[in-house]
Amino acid sequence: MTNLNFNTSALDGFVKENEINEIKPFVETANDLLINGTGVSSEMRQWVDLPQDYDKKEFADIKDAAQKIRKDSDVLVVIGIGGSYLGAKMAIDFLKGSYFNNLSKDKRNAPQIFFTGNSISGSDMSELIEMLDGQDFSINVISKSGTTTEPSIAFRIFRELLVKKYGENEANQRTYVTTDANKGSLRKEVKENNFQSFVIPDGVGGRYSVLTPVGLLPIAVAGVNIDELMDGANQARINYQKASFEDNEALQYAAYRNVLYRKGYTNEIFENYEPSLRFLSEWLKQLTGETEGKDNKGIYTSSANFSTDLHSLGQYIQQGMRNLMETVVNIQKPEADQVVPNKDNNDDGIQYLEGRNLNYINEKARESVVLAHKEGGVPNMLINVEDQTPSSLGYLIYFFEYAIAVSGYLNGINPFNQPGVEDYKSNMFALLGKPGYEDLKKKLENKNN
Ligand code: PA5
Repeated sequence: MTNLNFNTSALDGFVKENEINEIKPFVETANDLLINGTGVSSEMRQWVDLPQDYDKKEFADIKDAAQKIRKDSDVLVVIGIGGSYLGAKMAIDFLKGSYFNNLSKDKRNAPQIFFTGNSISGSDMSELIEMLDGQDFSINVISKSGTTTEPSIAFRIFRELLVKKYGENEANQRTYVTTDANKGSLRKEVKENNFQSFVIPDGVGGRYSVLTPVGLLPIAVAGVNIDELMDGANQARINYQKASFEDNEALQYAAYRNVLYRKGYTNEIFENYEPSLRFLSEWLKQLTGETEGKDNKGIYTSSANFSTDLHSLGQYIQQGMRNLMETVVNIQKPEADQVVPNKDNNDDGIQYLEGRNLNYINEKARESVVLAHKEGGVPNMLINVEDQTPSSLGYLIYFFEYAIAVSGYLNGINPFNQPGVEDYKSNMFALLGKPGYEDLKKKLENKNN
């Protein structure tokens, strides 16, 4: 079973066969560094075998906690930022659709799931608080470090709300913490209040953590079969770790995007034709940006949602600066379809589409865009995914994690740190007057003057 296919047919004229042959040994070396753990920061590659070597007891606990939340809560509030929320949001949208929270409770058959603590907006948080009025809710706070400002603030606010509504004891039963096994303030709070807690493994960084409790608990609360999700990822693990370059879509994708990068296509746009994949691109932007953007190099990634953005960014992609490449994630068997209805006149000019399926029209839109963009000088890579099932998503997640980590090693950077993110965090601590950051504060103030 392969739930994914990597298609380079639109790269004609952009990438030559010899260029792939030339980069191939370097991709294979990068792959060896990843698989054998001989690359830099190899202790952070625990995600590589995670789809097989995960904590089965904790996995069962996640399912039990999800059942309890599904029974006693109308809403689950998930608090986290970056890798501590993007994976779960991406997976729930991908598998349950963009209108999941708007469905009636009966149709949704799960609590509404809202994500907060991923900004510092008082307005956004106030809206969410209003939404919780009269609703039974639980909270899942997720932070590996336990020291990130945004989720720490949100946790205080929603925890206070929870205690006000239920009293200390029941609030404790409704607070779920996902954090480091030993370190950080959240772990301390777990011990003091007896919150149910889950562990983010040491060797898994935020952006590689969707298949740990970070993603799995909210995803299970949404009613997704997380066994199937892990099985799909494990299938990809088996394939990509043993397949040679010729049969390995992840290595091929790493090779093609890096050949293009070296030829001046420094910006990669992640594209989709299904609104439920919007957050897949958000997750990908974090995975690629934090993995590759270091030492003054790396592909800059962005996203476009089609056909929506054909009416905005489409102009730039067709005729703007020629440093763009596109990676389209295409769903081969979309979840559902609609037909263009008949009408007794052609005033809207679409009579020729009567009786046509929307999926068919969407496919033709995709084909037209490839032709137009190719003509306009934009290379287009296509990742075909069979469907929007947990198994296909698990496979896709692993595909991207693997390909991007290999790309990182290929470019001679550390794929598993994120010093740039840490820089902003320390600056913010200093400017807000956090104890211990006095010297940095002085330094920053001097720079400002
Ligand atoms: O990928 C990463 O490591 C980061 O984006 C983190 O996920 C993000 O900064 C949140 O960190 P934490 O989970 O420690 O609160």
